[in-house]
Amino acid sequence: MSNQTLRFILLLLLSSSVFSWKKEEFRNCNQTPFCKRARSRTPGSCSLTATDVTISDGDLTANLIPKHTNESESESKPLILTLSVYQDGILRLKIDEQHSSKTRFQVPDVVVSHFQETKLYLQRLTNEDLNGPSSVVYLSDGYSAVIRHDPFELFIRNDNSGDRVISLNSHGLFDFEQLREKNEGENWEENFRTHTDKRPYGPQSISFDVSFYDADFVYGIPERATSLALKPTRGPNVDESEPYRLFNLDVFEYIHDSPFGLYGSIPFMLSHGKVRGTSGFFWLNAAEMQIDVLAPGWDAESGISLPSSQNRIDTMWMSEAGVVDAFFFVGPNPKDVLRQYVAVTGAPALPQMFAVAYHQCRWNYRDEEDVENVDAKFDEFDIPYDVLWLDIEHTDGKRYFTWDRVLFPNPEEMQRKLAGKGRHMVTIVDPHIKRDDNFHLHKEASEKGYYVKDSNGNDFDGWCWPGSSSYADTLNPEIRSWWADKFSYQSYVGSTPSLYIWNDMNEPSVFNGPEVTMPRDALHYGGVEHREVHNAYGYYFHMATAEGLLKRGEGKDRPFVLSRALFAGSQRYGAVWTGDNSADWDHLRVSVPMVLTLGLTGMSFSGADVGGFFGNPEPELLVRWYQLGAYYPFFRAHAHHDTKRREPWLFGERKTELIRDAIHVRYALLPYFYTLFREANITGAPVARPLWMEFPSDEATFSNDEAFMVGNSILVQGIYTERAKHASVYLPGKQSWYDLRTGTVYKGGVTHKLEVTEESIPAFQRGGTILTRKDRFRRSSTQMTNDPFTLVIALNSSQAAEGELYIDDGSSFGFLEGAFIHRRFIFANGKLTSVNLAPTSGGNVRHTSDVLIERIILLGHAPGSKNALIEPSNQNVDIELGPLWVQRAHSPAFMTIRKPNVRVAEDWTIKIL
Ligand code: GLC
Repeated sequence: MSNQTLRFILLLLLSSSVFSWKKEEFRNCNQTPFCKRARSRTPGSCSLTATDVTISDGDLTANLIPKHTNESESESKPLILTLSVYQDGILRLKIDEQHSSKTRFQVPDVVVSHFQETKLYLQRLTNEDLNGPSSVVYLSDGYSAVIRHDPFELFIRNDNSGDRVISLNSHGLFDFEQLREKNEGENWEENFRTHTDKRPYGPQSISFDVSFYDADFVYGIPERATSLALKPTRGPNVDESEPYRLFNLDVFEYIHDSPFGLYGSIPFMLSHGKVRGTSGFFWLNAAEMQIDVLAPGWDAESGISLPSSQNRIDTMWMSEAGVVDAFFFVGPNPKDVLRQYVAVTGAPALPQMFAVAYHQCRWNYRDEEDVENVDAKFDEFDIPYDVLWLDIEHTDGKRYFTWDRVLFPNPEEMQRKLAGKGRHMVTIVDPHIKRDDNFHLHKEASEKGYYVKDSNGNDFDGWCWPGSSSYADTLNPEIRSWWADKFSYQSYVGSTPSLYIWNDMNEPSVFNGPEVTMPRDALHYGGVEHREVHNAYGYYFHMATAEGLLKRGEGKDRPFVLSRALFAGSQRYGAVWTGDNSADWDHLRVSVPMVLTLGLTGMSFSGADVGGFFGNPEPELLVRWYQLGAYYPFFRAHAHHDTKRREPWLFGERKTELIRDAIHVRYALLPYFYTLFREANITGAPVARPLWMEFPSDEATFSNDEAFMVGNSILVQGIYTERAKHASVYLPGKQSWYDLRTGTVYKGGVTHKLEVTEESIPAFQRGGTILTRKDRFRRSSTQMTNDPFTLVIALNSSQAAEGELYIDDGSSFGFLEGAFIHRRFIFANGKLTSVNLAPTSGGNVRHTSDVLIERIILLGHAPGSKNALIEPSNQNVDIELGPLWVQRAHSPAFMTIRKPNVRVAEDWTIKIL
């Protein structure tokens, strides 16, 4: 064998093991005609003009007509444009065609009904000459929306500075393929590999350019394994690359750095820059989408000149079908954009407390004995956990809602035993239904006509875990309601109130389908083609399942449903995870930008499989993953069935200790996490945040995706390499930071080179904040309910700090009626004050608590004080020196008030004397 042949074989072997991602199974832009067409358009090619611009029923309306009609455009009718303004500076743009043979799909049930009530009825239209006749409407304080008529362009402007914020069609790339009759001899079919898409309605894609002004970076548009700040995909100095793809797919062994879209799609992009802050653009469209981020100078040849004094990032949005239904958010702070986005798509659901704790999963816990052993070992090794998960093998032949009665003869008993320790169970329920006439679910669904149909009108039949399967059409509300009923205790035999649900494979995954999913010409309720609704299929399934858990508990308990597929609005229905990652360091690293991006687009409750799904992590990697995962909003270990067992106690005493410690940190911080989940539930601000969300004018944070904030108080830096001895950590802002473990103080605004040990990853409490902890470790979060709190006050340079604590019953919807405790702790002028933030009147129910504060630790306080005075009880307490963590006897000592014994729910002050 020649050297060259040998090298070739080696290379082949190497590439097949390293890149087992089967690229050729998926379409690229060139193989996707609408994407290829859109990418080949030249700037300025849109000749649409806005005519008949007027105010009608509180909206601005206009017709868009082509100025120069070429042959294909001569048939086209005017497009109808509607512009609406909502509270908080939200602008909505709709563009659709007039009646045609088919109604173009508009995604229902994503925009929350309350949003419509916030519409501001436009009354006045001003005409201005801005490089040609333009119509201007008021948007919100300081902002207007401007439509330039010819050529058509829409932009938002800051009225004080005259600067632009966001614009659409400034480069004249807007294109709307109207539905039309097929020309004689024309073939609309598209082929990919062995699959043919009949495309009975022909081309119907939409594309346009969106520009973000004064933007340094753009972010968002999950889900993919790549950096937080989105790199340009086209333009000078950019290697030929694919656009960012939004098309929900079950991607086997995805690689750790790719613009390729994974299981979920949220067509929402944010821009951020030092000068103006943050803005956002959301296109509500569930068809395949491709988005280019254009490098500066990409349009050098076009002759188009835009305001040049402002930094600008241009993007190009392309979708296969649907309508333009787009939302513009002016910010200007990062959290403003999140608030504006969730005003449209809904706030993240508040999870139950147990769901915020640690989850233990594996494909598969074999049988009841296995479950019992694993459960017992957690107790034996003194490791808390809240939820044990069962994967597909627990069912009778992958018929969901059933049990393999040999392996799981007594599921109720099994769940009751767990529940006795305050623990819960989750079982998997996937959307594919086994086509087996003896399976009641299949029988019912086929008799009622509840399945998605193939292009010939028969029940769509695809291959998934159970073999031949069909898929309930959960786009239809009636079918969702039927599906929801399947979760009742009578229907789901063997389920008990402590059982919750995991929805997987809901992209949907179809092993023998084109790109491992459902054919685009499959048919849904109302004659909707799968191509039009694809990215939201999993969303409707998730919604129906969450509805099922609500129904089963008569609306009393909050559902918990984990979903793999996701769409805009999924945050209302539960948690998501980042799918089948791998047990390697790169996947550990990319989990951070993935989780942060999900959080930026509303999906606050997310996490990655701790340990990595495929492959066997080295014990060191596993430990590092636990140390990082303890700060993911959703904290679950999971593993593929071909991997070795990896429960926390299997790698020797030291590793067990380290993993226990990581999990303990999460349990100690549960009160803080839960408070953050409530914040997300009210404001949309994610639990895990990019640094720039807290430090919006600090440029050094803008592309940092190795560190992140948990809420506003904790900064976490992952360790992503083997045997790391040092880590460079940038600590933003002017205030000091305190090491979460040792209390050591670090200066802000500096990159620190820190020593790293195996004990923990770097994590810091921000000066000026107060953290709430629960330091007594139990078997589960449920058992911690009545445990006392520890407050950790990290003082800033003015010797002040603030923090919040939210408490409710951890499970019901009582909080919606005011049954919660919400406190603010303020430390200033040597005095700690507890202030009530909960409404004192109006609610029907109250949440009460006798729980005490057992310890207050002061970091950064000048030494010397010996006593403190508690009011109103007028008690004197000693100030001692104590460790930051009681379990760590040898750690340095800090000023500590032990047993102040004030109630967490009451007003009081503690004055340091
Ligand atoms: C998919 C899921 C994975 C699960 C497996 C079996 O690969 O992503 O988490 O374990 O299916 O259900």
